[in-house]
Amino acid sequence: MPICGRGEALMPELISDLKEMRRVVKEARRAGKTVGFVPTMGYFHRGHLSLMERAREENDLVVVSIFVNPTQFGPTEDFREYPRDLERDLALAGEVGVDIVFHPPVEDMYPPPYRTYVEVEGITETLCGAFRPGHFRGVTTVVTKLFHLVPADRAYFGAKDAQQALVIRKMVEDLNFDIEVVICPTVREEDGLAMSSRNVYLGEEERRAATALYRSLCVARDLLEKGERNSSSILSEMHRVLDEEPLVRPEYVEIVDCQEMRPLDRVEGEVVVALAARVGRARLIDNLMLRVDEEGITLLP
Ligand code: PAF
Repeated sequence: MPICGRGEALMPELISDLKEMRRVVKEARRAGKTVGFVPTMGYFHRGHLSLMERAREENDLVVVSIFVNPTQFGPTEDFREYPRDLERDLALAGEVGVDIVFHPPVEDMYPPPYRTYVEVEGITETLCGAFRPGHFRGVTTVVTKLFHLVPADRAYFGAKDAQQALVIRKMVEDLNFDIEVVICPTVREEDGLAMSSRNVYLGEEERRAATALYRSLCVARDLLEKGERNSSSILSEMHRVLDEEPLVRPEYVEIVDCQEMRPLDRVEGEVVVALAARVGRARLIDNLMLRVDEEGITLLP
């Protein structure tokens, strides 16, 4: 499936060794190069590639990690089935000019007995945190480890995982990491479905039904544009759109503020209109990050 197509691409260097990874990045920085880092779990789509392109534009050296992180999956979740295709990923990363792909083995990232975890409190209990206990602890733990192994200037995350991006930004601030967190816009299919590696789980009918997620976000945006600020009125219209699709089983539909991730009664300031739903065996999330003020609404980031 050609999803990019820049022509003659160089394959990125593949590094699996943790110490070698850190050595290469430190050496580049000592030589005065800036380093951009894109942490991923692989199985690239255009969303991932847009992060890599942004990192390419803004840095001398671009490192992408591919690591399906076991600690962020619950015991009944899809860690084993999560799609993986290293060869394809390397070729795609090469096409957008990535220099290095870091692909560490699980047993080196979590040598037994592994005992140390990083947890951000207060903003990880709502939205996805409420449905995936321990998920954000796994994310912040692995991202901390990755930031130590790839001590970059900037790290790039997609706004599709808005709560994850804001949790990581808070962790970076609280733990004084010397890295800039760059949040990049969600990349969508033509019909609005947000790009996700988990979209491969969708059958034909489910794929069609899944467009209801973005349609319900558009309804929220239109109401806000017309001046509606009452959260429950907006949420009930969003539910109406989702309820028209029996294949879509919503987990949550919320409007929260970007700082505390708490549900708002009145929609004002920097907010996330967020939802998660099961469609077949896929769990899909999507959101709009918005600034809402007297001027109107602005799409973030
Ligand atoms: O967004 C992802 O792909 C993952 O949660 C991340 C940030 C790479 C951590 O495993």
